[in-house]
Amino acid sequence: MSSVTNDETKLRERMAEHGKALFDRGLTFGSAGNISVRLDDGWLLTPTNSCLGRLDPARIAKLDDQGKLLSGDPPSKEAFMHRAVYEERAGARAVVHLHSTHSVAVSCLEGIDPANVLPPLTAYYVMKIGTLPLVPYFRPGDPALGEAIREYIAKTPAVLLANHGPVVAGKSLDDAMYATEELEETAKLFLLLQNHRTRPLTPEQIDDLHTHFPS
Ligand code: 13P
Repeated sequence: MSSVTNDETKLRERMAEHGKALFDRGLTFGSAGNISVRLDDGWLLTPTNSCLGRLDPARIAKLDDQGKLLSGDPPSKEAFMHRAVYEERAGARAVVHLHSTHSVAVSCLEGIDPANVLPPLTAYYVMKIGTLPLVPYFRPGDPALGEAIREYIAKTPAVLLANHGPVVAGKSLDDAMYATEELEETAKLFLLLQNHRTRPLTPEQIDDLHTHFPS
């Protein structure tokens, strides 16, 4: 049994707080979605089949860097996917995966650009997400997804799994959560604007954002 530091206790509580906030606002439902946080001695991951709205901080799974369960309930079936993200992104401290409705709707659309699914509609989308590649469909829990996601997530902190949902890495749990929520709201805007002529940000406006808000 590994020891639990104050920081780890706080992060466990924060995972449960964020999970409840997502659930209360309908951004997750049933047992969909999973959240992980990197620690100095391994990482925390929400248990499989758990409702993110009712997480018990003490029962969140703790794994070592090889993905072996050290304590807590059995981890999410997407553990290998979270691990692949940490292995590809040295600066990632948290990963959020949801089945949030608008992002999933976009992931099911015919004719989206798989290199970058959403247009740069707003400044905050550009600042928090920027580029969103589509990862081909794999069954949830398929270890092949963990391998397939590597080439995409190595280049951008957020990806969209086809017919499934977003996976977003962040420098902290709050960062990953804010970016995931921004993505979901932008997917909603994108769907609202279908069949409307839209005016996305220009390359100059995007450059200006990158200058003033470097990631
Ligand atoms: P888990 O309950 O195993 O975390 O799976 C939920 C999910 O979101 C699958 O993609």
